Amino acid sequence: MKVLHVVGARPNFMKAAPVYRALANRGHEQILVHTGQHYDTLMSDVFFKGLGIPDPDESLNVGSGSHAQQTASIMSLFEPVVLARKPDMVLVYGDVNSTVAAALVCAKIGVRVGHVESGLRSFDRSMPEEINRLVTDQLADILFTPSTDGDENLAREGIAREKVFFVGNVMIDTLIRFLPKADEIYPRLKAELSLESFGLVTLHRPSNVDDESIFLPMLRVLDSLSEKLPLIFPVHPRTLQKWSKQLQQCNSNIRAVDPLGYLEFLALQKNSAVVITDSGGIQEETTYLGVPCLTLRENTERPVTLTFGTNVLIGRDWELLRKHFDRALSGRREHKGLPPLWDGKASERIADIITQRGI
Ligand code: UD1
Repeated sequence: MKVLHVVGARPNFMKAAPVYRALANRGHEQILVHTGQHYDTLMSDVFFKGLGIPDPDESLNVGSGSHAQQTASIMSLFEPVVLARKPDMVLVYGDVNSTVAAALVCAKIGVRVGHVESGLRSFDRSMPEEINRLVTDQLADILFTPSTDGDENLAREGIAREKVFFVGNVMIDTLIRFLPKADEIYPRLKAELSLESFGLVTLHRPSNVDDESIFLPMLRVLDSLSEKLPLIFPVHPRTLQKWSKQLQQCNSNIRAVDPLGYLEFLALQKNSAVVITDSGGIQEETTYLGVPCLTLRENTERPVTLTFGTNVLIGRDWELLRKHFDRALSGRREHKGLPPLWDGKASERIADIITQRGI
């Protein structure tokens, strides 16, 4: 079978890597298309290298733009690639603009689409990713869910049960595979940082970083929390573009650094006293690692990280943030276990299903 994978933005890379590997082990022909939604070396190339993903067979180099521009560019550049390459199936990942754009192209020209990380819902349509999730799942022919809430959401939206497969979390496959390597590099990182303990911060959601009246109070709270515990803040290009000056004005315990590679970030996550984030994937990774995660969002499309894991939704309640921050510093950890099938074998299950069904 010929399977074409579409990746575009940073969180896609660690999801596609294990599926590509599992399909390669079963002898399938594979084509990798990089849309170029993320294009900086630190947002893209280092992940290909670090995760051992082969170079893309096709690079669309779409770059940035408004949602409509970016989605439309991906569609118009991707369509001829699918027509020329004639895959039996296209796999799309997660919820970024590249995901929905590729799914829409395939649905229109009758190429089968598989969606990896299907069924997640924040129920918040002001989030661009929620729109991408809803549309992609309606269009996909085969849907792979990371958790059973995904199956329930899809059933409620009228998606036929026989198209849906609960396989577990492919991002955790990558984490489990690379954790020993992250442990290996940690002593070097620790020496470079010369910090005994620290917290880790990431912020990039438009709802948090685009508006001054929201981002600046958030930064002030982080600045004050960093007096109790140094905070390492790998800054996403979206956040840096707007706030580089304000970041420089923070106290020196806020260490704003360039985006990190996968191994470096994983090593820091594992050894953090606490993680403060608005990322989706990091909520999952901290759940696996048992590290307290304080999420600066009102909702999450990953509710298993709340019920099983270490995640707490903070929204913009700074008192709540301080309370949970102090709790994390006191060493109290409330880990309730791992969600089912977060066992490092999700991509094997996906590859088996694709192989057995011949789709
Ligand atoms: C995208 C995804 C988001 C994901 C995030 C991870 C969508 C709708 N959003 O958000 O779900 O969590 O990636 O990073 O697909 N930029 C660069 N260099 C790059 C990429 C982006 O400088 O390599 C800048 C561009 O100016 C761009 C901005 O960052 O306008 C935002 O990039 P974009 O891909 O539009 O969205 P993200 O915020 O990265």
